Amino acid sequence: MVSYKELGLVNTREMFKKAIDGGYAIPAFNFNNMEQMQAIISACVEASSPVILQVSSGARKYANQTLLRYMAQGAVEYAKELGKNIPICLHLDHGNSFELCKSCIDMGFSSVMIDGSHLPYDENVALTKQVVDYAHQFDVTVEGELGVLAGVEDEVSAEHHTYTRPEEVVDFVSKTGVDSLAISIGTSHGANKFKPEQCTRNAEGILVPPPLRFDILAEIEKQLPGFPIVLHGSSSVPQEYVKIINTHGGALKDAVGIPEEQLRQAAKSAVCKINIDSDGRLAMTAAVRKVFVDNPAEFDPRKYLGPARDELKKLYMHKCENVLGSAGKA
Ligand code: G3H
Ligand code: 13P
Ligand code: ZN
Repeated sequence: MVSYKELGLVNTREMFKKAIDGGYAIPAFNFNNMEQMQAIISACVEASSPVILQVSSGARKYANQTLLRYMAQGAVEYAKELGKNIPICLHLDHGNSFELCKSCIDMGFSSVMIDGSHLPYDENVALTKQVVDYAHQFDVTVEGELGVLAGVEDEVSAEHHTYTRPEEVVDFVSKTGVDSLAISIGTSHGANKFKPEQCTRNAEGILVPPPLRFDILAEIEKQLPGFPIVLHGSSSVPQEYVKIINTHGGALKDAVGIPEEQLRQAAKSAVCKINIDSDGRLAMTAAVRKVFVDNPAEFDPRKYLGPARDELKKLYMHKCENVLGSAGKA
């Protein structure tokens, strides 16, 4: 058993309090490999932003959980070496069992999500409470979820949104003791967040998605004043990356995300954690495809992963500075 405190990591409590008071959101970026980690840390150091490093079950399988944990420990040292001791949280994204959450807590995670959103309400409450009771003994913070996002929730596929029911949130938070609540107000995982028939098209023919349900968010805030709210599925799917991918041998059809203005608006509310994974995937893929097409003889991984890392860093800095408002808050 290792405590995250020995590793120089922090939980989300203080971060979220400051974010709500300051009207911004903390970026929660997923990572699976060294280049993503380097880009996240160097961007957040340069932007002077606190950051949540997220590890999904898929990331644990892909990269090995022990290695990821040591990478997060390395991230703390890397940030210091770059010149700024920014607050860094190591968070389990979409934990689906008590055992998985416990294993992450025992190996040094400072925060976990238990995602019981697809379970019947009472089972979600019971599972979430079990995780909270364990986590809080070690001052590890816990994110729960009410409502189901359309798209793919990790390995659980949800065809349609089930928006969070504001009338359930007080009961859920008081029965479970969670530190933050992920809600469903129209965001969705992946790069195809909406079907074309759900969208309109602007003058350039670009898909415009239906707006987020800010009315539901406002009702939740009314029920839980000052309580930390989390938005999953918050990539914006920048069309410039989609274009580069598709003009360099890719085939992404009808990719559409959440407009940045809406995320900026959400960040000013009780939404204090915004999850972004797909945009990073798009940035890396666009950069790598470009190198391969422009220079087909290239075979040194540093020559394509390096540009991918540079593009990722640019993207993450943009998120902190222009979308979430977390720049300068470390
Ligand atoms: O919400 C899911 C995250 O984007 C992680 O995705 O399960 O493919 O690692 P993953
Ligand atoms: P995106 O697929 O929109 O990046 O969402 C990521 C996420 O919610 C991770 O939990
Ligand atoms: Zn998610």
